[in-house]
Amino acid sequence: MKKIAVMTSGGDAPGMNAAIRAVVRYAVKNDIQVLGIQRGYAGLLDEDFIEMDFASVGGIMEKGGTVLRSSRCPEFVRKETRQEAAKILARHGVEGLIVIGGEGSLHGAMFLEEEQKVPVVGIPGTIDNDIAMTDMSIGVDTCLNTVVDAIQKLKDTASSHERAFIVEVMGRSSGYIATVAGLVTGAEAIVIPEIPVNYEALGNKILKERERGKINCIVVVAEGAASAYTVARHLEHRIGYETRITILGHIQRGGSPTAFDRLLASRMGVAAVEFLKRGNSYIMTALQGGKIVPVKLDEVLKQKKSLNMELVELTALLS
Ligand code: F6P
Repeated sequence: MKKIAVMTSGGDAPGMNAAIRAVVRYAVKNDIQVLGIQRGYAGLLDEDFIEMDFASVGGIMEKGGTVLRSSRCPEFVRKETRQEAAKILARHGVEGLIVIGGEGSLHGAMFLEEEQKVPVVGIPGTIDNDIAMTDMSIGVDTCLNTVVDAIQKLKDTASSHERAFIVEVMGRSSGYIATVAGLVTGAEAIVIPEIPVNYEALGNKILKERERGKINCIVVVAEGAASAYTVARHLEHRIGYETRITILGHIQRGGSPTAFDRLLASRMGVAAVEFLKRGNSYIMTALQGGKIVPVKLDEVLKQKKSLNMELVELTALLS
């Protein structure tokens, strides 16, 4: 293998730069050239490429976002578009492609190999932790730390003013961020897409605690379950607290990656190149029981990662 390409695609996630750095440096040490594709699949179609070398990825590990930039590329759902992409890669002598991104991006990679025979390796990068067969994706840990920090600050005001805060976090189809953030900040409740919410019961529980002397209340809502405004509308007249809403939005996706994310990204980046080098493609790098292992892309993508219900129970038990 003489030349590979790497891209980041879909929503950015902290740690993507550490993965790019690991891919480039490990490839260069193995005498493999690396083409950086800018702006994900959209940049691939526009041939927005840069040659990358050892020095070009210096000082990027600690940066949030992605130096290759990213995009969502709806045209890539079309077979003809993927055919065009494969032709471009072949014209540039690319023998393998590494795609760092979430579910949609990994689907694009899977089809590129399935139909167009481009050898691909995916690296899971998304704050949502909604990709099956890997314990963690790159960016999840940093996002959680950002959310926890924000909730901790809100708790200060919640206590000072005896208020309830309804905090909306990301997670279109997964309640992972809301559940873990709720658990480790001692939130009174979580509202997640995996479990239908009973506002009456939830309101009664919060009211009872308020009457017993509690002076603050945090409810963490996953965006995929309901908006914070809806939850507030259902709860505020039942819980005996003045209520405020905070939508954390895209601050959850930014910032310097944590040590955990840098480590995970570095290990996955090296593994991705190593797999390609050995002719092992149509796979994603996964973290399973502390080890980085290859898992088949089609198996990953036919499953929906289910939320660990023990975490949900623990949140309820300890709040
Ligand atoms: O998939 C990552 C994610 O941050 C989701 O949690 C969120 O719903 C979505 O991306 C937001 O996407 P965009 O940045 O395109 O608005």
